Amino acid sequence: MRVAMFGTGYVGLVTGACLAEVGHDVVCVDIDQAKIDGLNRGVIPIYEPGLAPLVQANHAAGRLAFTTEAAGAIAHAQVIFIAVGTPPDEDGSADLQYVLAVARTIGRHLDHPAVVVNKSTVPVGTADKVRAVIAEEFSARGARVAFDVVSNPEFLKEGDAVADCLRPDRIIIGADDARAVTVLRRLYAPFNRKRDRVVEMDVRSAELTKYAANAMLATKISFMNEIANIAERVGADIEQVRQGIGSDPRIGWHFIYPGAGYGGSCFPKDVQALARTAAQHGHTPRLLEAVEAVNEAQKGHLFTLIQRHYDRGEDEGVRGKTFAVWGLAFKPNTDDMRAAPSRRLLAQLWEAGARVRAYDPEAMGEARRVFGERKDLMLCESAFEALEGADALIVVTEWKQFRSPDFVRLREALGDAVVFDGRNLYDPQEIEAAGLAYYGIGRGR
Ligand code: UGA
Repeated sequence: MRVAMFGTGYVGLVTGACLAEVGHDVVCVDIDQAKIDGLNRGVIPIYEPGLAPLVQANHAAGRLAFTTEAAGAIAHAQVIFIAVGTPPDEDGSADLQYVLAVARTIGRHLDHPAVVVNKSTVPVGTADKVRAVIAEEFSARGARVAFDVVSNPEFLKEGDAVADCLRPDRIIIGADDARAVTVLRRLYAPFNRKRDRVVEMDVRSAELTKYAANAMLATKISFMNEIANIAERVGADIEQVRQGIGSDPRIGWHFIYPGAGYGGSCFPKDVQALARTAAQHGHTPRLLEAVEAVNEAQKGHLFTLIQRHYDRGEDEGVRGKTFAVWGLAFKPNTDDMRAAPSRRLLAQLWEAGARVRAYDPEAMGEARRVFGERKDLMLCESAFEALEGADALIVVTEWKQFRSPDFVRLREALGDAVVFDGRNLYDPQEIEAAGLAYYGIGRGR
């Protein structure tokens, strides 16, 4: 089938490349000329495992094109995806200006029947707005073309996005029209061979499903962070508690890891946007507000542990100390630092007069962009280089390569021989046996 994909961000690029991979003819459109030029030369703007070869192979095979020419892409397409950003507005609600700008462009140029698909995470009711904008443009130019607007939210995880797209656990098709469902079923048939993964529903339910999924996952994390804080105070170990509850299938093993708080481009923004939608419709979202508040507090928790350690009278406090920081990305296997807990932590350390030596396997370029040049930050080439001259180690992101360091070497490198483990990667007994002081999240024993 012939597809136009508006937006070559995370979602648009991955989805476009995966649709091309299964044989569709995909044209990706973006207003960013430099990005499109780069993509045409095989330069992938984000780090995502498996994405570069997928894009390059399908581009070379002629199934995946990149352009800034919207009209041509629309003329080509049976299915037109809107996969542009919906950043938070000042009040936390999703800013729809990019989505509606694409709708306007579609309305100006579409002259054959097509299905318009909302892939961006958008508040309930957005499909109606998209439909209205297209219809408005149609009536301005006297066009009479049949079109449908469908909600088809994505559930891609950064770091696993290609696999999630090629092997989805569900494909939500929110449509008010059977014709549109048939078109999307055909489009997704190659991903849907073993069993039917399509869940059909009305448009508004599909829009809400996306927020419900992310809000539920964020709730699990904030819940565990809350229990971790209780564990810390009552002298229990959250890791043992986690083992103790995960085997109950109603609770499950996934997303019950306490840590430095959730980050990324989705959870913080989506929890806020859903809360905003609720409030706008006269419902007070007590739970969502708590989920967000717990997360905000949790992002400061590592620093509280650090302060507590240094204020014990055994040292002159955090000022003048040098901290090695392992991990800057909001989670492993990505270079994304949006809303990353590391950003709050570093700001707090600098505020307190400390210096930072940081290393992340993928996010160094992003770190340079986010933090710029500063005297109290050294961006290092390796995990062990970050330890040189450092007093303590703070682990913020659970990259695999940080999981089993040589603890003796750590103790020798760190002036104060102390490790703050923001992801509970290490066994406290093992690390203490090597002569290091240890702080984890929710490990009060
Ligand atoms: C999330 C969802 O998982 C995807 O299904 C969804 O499609 C995507 O948002 C989106 O809306 O586009 P992503 O933001 O890539 O994906 O990241 P996650 O893997 O969900 O992690 C989010 C945050 O939660 C990270 O900061 C991670 O460290 C944290 N987390 C996760 C925990 O603190 N504990 C856990 O047990 C799990």
